[in-house]
Amino acid sequence: MNDATGASFAQTLASQLQTRFLGRPLHFFPILDSTNTYAARLAREGAPEGTVVIADAQTSGKGRLGRRWISPPHVNLYLSVILRPPVSVAAAPSINLLAGVAVAEAIVSVCALTPAIKWPNDVLVNDKKVCGILAEMQASATTLHAIILGIGVNINAPLSTFPAELRDKASSLLLIGGRQIERGKFAATLLTSLEKFYVLWLQQGFVAVRADWERYATDLFGKRITVAAPEGTVTGVVLGLDTDGALLVREDAEATPRRFLAGDVTVVGGYGQGEGHDPRH
Ligand code: BTN
Repeated sequence: MNDATGASFAQTLASQLQTRFLGRPLHFFPILDSTNTYAARLAREGAPEGTVVIADAQTSGKGRLGRRWISPPHVNLYLSVILRPPVSVAAAPSINLLAGVAVAEAIVSVCALTPAIKWPNDVLVNDKKVCGILAEMQASATTLHAIILGIGVNINAPLSTFPAELRDKASSLLLIGGRQIERGKFAATLLTSLEKFYVLWLQQGFVAVRADWERYATDLFGKRITVAAPEGTVTGVVLGLDTDGALLVREDAEATPRRFLAGDVTVVGGYGQGEGHDPRH
């Protein structure tokens, strides 16, 4: 099933793709530095919404917060979608949450496993991270030109591809579920699910996806957490999600809650849902 170039992966995906616009067109490469970097270039050159870039392997896979994403060949999914939603820059970040829901839904449907989402968009199974999502915006002032939505799913990765220090935090669908998953089928299912939630989000905003996100979300409400965000690290108690998907956190001794649209959450004292570290070099 896992051929040397990923050609059968690409063929299965092309033959099973049932979307209206996601993955049309679809660019497949045996190897790239990063699908997000390649898709960003295509987007700047005017590629249409729905364009998807997939690589069988990445040499410089990008993770959130400047980290790297381990991207060995023949086993996983590394995919970037170009989206051009007609929304403001401020409304865009909740796309991260809808992408997590789409991945969770694909895992349920293809693997019959039970995923959980850790805010904003890490997808875990059995408390281990199996998917990371990196959305990068192309915008000028307040005008959004494109979102490069990058999704990495550890599908058939063997234990040997995870550095020792990550093995208690990250895993693959194969290692957890005990059976190989056809990558082309997984990718086709994911794109169908992503298209469905994206259209809902376009029509009604994050509110339309919120209940699905909460159904999968690990329970952070009322927990004391530390958020490592681009703007700094803050410790406080989670008050809930804002209408746009931002995490509301009351810092100690502060009356006004802080809002976070991105970051890594660690529950102080642990809560049995992993500690939120990403697979990285
Ligand atoms: C995270 O740190 O959790 C986000 C990881 C995102 C990885 C994916 S793999 C496909 C796409 N291309 C990249 O370089 N990164 C994203």
